Amino acid sequence: MKEKLLKRFGEVFGSTESAAVYFAPGRVNLIGEHTDYNGGHVFPCALTIGTYAVARLRSDDKLCLYSMNFEDSGIGESTLGAIEEKTAGDWRNYPKGIVWAFGQKGFPVDKGLDILFYGNIPNGSGLSSSASIEVLTGFILKELFGFDVTNQDLALIGQFSENRYNGVNCGIMDQFAIAMGKKDCAIFLDTADLSYEYAPIALDGAKIVILNTNKKRGLGDSKYNERRSECEAALAALQTKLDIRSLGELTEEAFEENKFLIGDEVKIKRAKHAVYENQRTIKAVKALQEKDLALFGRLMTASHDSLRDDYEVTGAELDTLVAEALKQEGTIGARMTGAGFGGCAVSIVKTDCVDAFIENVGKAYAEKIGYNADFYVVEIGGGPTVL
Ligand code: GLA
Repeated sequence: MKEKLLKRFGEVFGSTESAAVYFAPGRVNLIGEHTDYNGGHVFPCALTIGTYAVARLRSDDKLCLYSMNFEDSGIGESTLGAIEEKTAGDWRNYPKGIVWAFGQKGFPVDKGLDILFYGNIPNGSGLSSSASIEVLTGFILKELFGFDVTNQDLALIGQFSENRYNGVNCGIMDQFAIAMGKKDCAIFLDTADLSYEYAPIALDGAKIVILNTNKKRGLGDSKYNERRSECEAALAALQTKLDIRSLGELTEEAFEENKFLIGDEVKIKRAKHAVYENQRTIKAVKALQEKDLALFGRLMTASHDSLRDDYEVTGAELDTLVAEALKQEGTIGARMTGAGFGGCAVSIVKTDCVDAFIENVGKAYAEKIGYNADFYVVEIGGGPTVL
């Protein structure tokens, strides 16, 4: 891979002098969905698939960005002085947003760069290809400019740029999972204070299988920001009586006693998901620690039901994949993962049953939806690195 990337960099940028190769993973969330902007817990892990880059400093102020995934769009050139200028729908807004965000945070980028990217995460699939580019770009800036930032800072800067440069009000989960990834571990993160624990994932005799609906989605045009404001409105209504800072501070019982304060059926459902999903995530991690994989799987499935019925972010494609997955022998649990509205589902499947699982679910999905799903048997990888 490294040789292939360097060769292409040489062809595109004229030479490979002073160029180094970097990698940042994608992520999959096992449970704890739409809780990260509600002060709740999440349980994602980094993947061994992700984004690669070859980068070097320039002596002028040009930012020259090229992607092997979009070869037709060539080298996109901008200048550091005009970093705020965006082109709608251009993938370069992610690396440019990071250069901008470093400047905003007191780490001025004062030299241009040549960067070639190559990603093997399917774009727009909900496995965080954009957060992967963001954390990778931050990691490259840290390495090449010697900025004194931790990997956790890279996650926060990535989220800041996504919120403020790209206009998506996302939480911290994706960038955190990518920047802080650890091989064979999921990250049990409390988004209220960013305290976290690594939980080893030893799925004796089972595999993580990701199911891609192949229905494209983008957070910007999804109802993501709308869900977030519905939760904020529900919280504000609860705060008229309760001394809480987020929905993540509520138990199921406290929520049931006080939900009348919200006074709107839809917002009650949204808040219910946020509260119950947070508690489910805490229970799921405990189940895993107690080696009760069956309970972990049931909680994953309950998470999907709540995302379908109360949060309403699934849709026919994800619901079909999960329903078909649950019919298969050897399926321990299945749910949508990421923002929803298309993208991917994640399941845990007994190793011996994986081949039949892929065949049967694939066939049923194509019959019902009219096009194919894709399947990836994934491994949990580490965070950003120099190759
Ligand atoms: C997207 C966002 C995350 C998180 C998930 C839903 O991936 O980027 O911050 O909110 O959706 O859990």
